Amino acid sequence: MKSFYLTTPIYYVNDAPHIGHAYTTVAGDVLTRWHRQRGESVWFLTGTDEHGQKVMRTAQENNVEPQAWVDRLVADAWKPNWTALNIANDDFIRTTEPRHTERVQKFLQSLKDSGHIYAGKYEGPYCVGCEEFKLPGDLIDSDGAKLCPIHSKPVEIVNENNWFFKLSAFVEPLLKHYKENPEACQPESARNEVVSFLEGGVSDLSISRSTFDWGIPVPWDTDQVVYVWFDALLNYATAVGLTDAPDSEGGKKFASTWPADVHLVGKDILRFHAVIWPAMLMAAGIAVPKKVFAHGWLLVGGEKMSKSKLTGIAPSDITDHFGVDAFRYYFLRAIPFGSDGSFSWEDMSARYTSELANDFGNLASRLAAMVEKYCDGKLPAKSGDKTLESALTETVAKADAAMVALDFQGGINAVMDFCKKVNGYVTEKEPWILAKDPSNKAVLDEVLYNTAESLRALAVLLHPVMPATTEILWESLGANSAIGSIGTQKISDVATWGQLPQGTSVTKTPVLFPRLETKE
Ligand code: ME8
Ligand code: MG
Repeated sequence: MKSFYLTTPIYYVNDAPHIGHAYTTVAGDVLTRWHRQRGESVWFLTGTDEHGQKVMRTAQENNVEPQAWVDRLVADAWKPNWTALNIANDDFIRTTEPRHTERVQKFLQSLKDSGHIYAGKYEGPYCVGCEEFKLPGDLIDSDGAKLCPIHSKPVEIVNENNWFFKLSAFVEPLLKHYKENPEACQPESARNEVVSFLEGGVSDLSISRSTFDWGIPVPWDTDQVVYVWFDALLNYATAVGLTDAPDSEGGKKFASTWPADVHLVGKDILRFHAVIWPAMLMAAGIAVPKKVFAHGWLLVGGEKMSKSKLTGIAPSDITDHFGVDAFRYYFLRAIPFGSDGSFSWEDMSARYTSELANDFGNLASRLAAMVEKYCDGKLPAKSGDKTLESALTETVAKADAAMVALDFQGGINAVMDFCKKVNGYVTEKEPWILAKDPSNKAVLDEVLYNTAESLRALAVLLHPVMPATTEILWESLGANSAIGSIGTQKISDVATWGQLPQGTSVTKTPVLFPRLETKE
């Protein structure tokens, strides 16, 4: 069976991760968890981009060999960060690993052998921050200096004899590809940008460098190293066995994952992924990715938050205060995926309190308290409620359609709207009033059962977004022993009402989203 294969960018290890990197990786984690809960086989790859001048210079500035520098950052900063954010990636690729470097060399040699690579001379501007050969028209003028518009730093002039990839030959095939497969580059604004870039004409690409040696040697010319982006883009395919024999383990992995279903990237690196990368694959006769999705930027003071501008906020600055699950929830909930968004403590605090603590967390703790108080902690007999049941059916359909289309905001909103409906149901039925008169016991039981079932559904639907919190709720509902672990619940079964059996032990747990004041 072909796996749903999703990748994040592999991040530069010149510095520790900030919330921009976490934004992409959390989105990838939520989407892959959702697909797993749809019952699909999933492969989720992330990793680190370790070659190139940017990383090399940072190591030099710190008086460390590049390999020692990247080893340290990966072990001390990047991997622990993803563990802390509960990222369930299946693999982590580093571009300094032999499995990568060897396959890159094989791939490059095959492109050379098939006539897609030739010797030439490159002269022009280069931004080390972007690791990109720039076009004069890309740059901004500042007192005579030419600046990279992303890094606001002067570009450097490169003048080298290099190897070139015949990128220009793929302009027409790429235009045809995006015309025939509009879903292959999303959102629409990103596709339009790529199409107009292609229509403007594209020159061949220098794919090697000769003035430093921190990179993968060009196999037939070891005085040169492979251009860092040509090396880095290949990670998506080398990690799953590119160039391995079809009957080998790597070859089989490749067959079961390729082409990638989604390459998730920020819009800063759209052209690399939607122009250069598919052209490289076309040249090699390999299927192109099904979708490149370019999301927007987290902004600070109206500009892209970045390591180089020292505006990066560490994920732990936020998770220390709000918790990991609120972090995972907030950015996907607050910013339409594809648009830019500004982070604000005020907005995050407001949503934490109203949506997570009040709407969701309170509902869960009220139910547990009432089942304990009115039913000795045992779930009453099964019952149903037409309105809630049909609202749930609609919610699941809406959320599923939105999530698979990478509309995280739409998907989460659909689920949280259902949460509001359940709150409205409890408020209207007033179980605490019903409990005062024993003749209402049957109605009280119904209300509590229906609320518990609603929470069961909310736990599963929010599990990809907030895995740890929903796990606690699942425990509280006694659902593990009754219907199995939360991770095994299928999206397609969520709306089937009446899954929690009568007599299930419902227990109080620590509040899911503590009041913010008490955390300081
Ligand atoms: O570009 N807002 O690595 P990188 C949103 N190594 N997302 C952001 C962000 C922000 N302010 N800042 C960073 C590279 N990101 C290459 C990639 S892939 C073959 C090689 C996220 O460390 C976003 O996903 O500069 C962006 O595209 C990526 O981090 C860039 O990370
Ligand atoms: Mg960058």
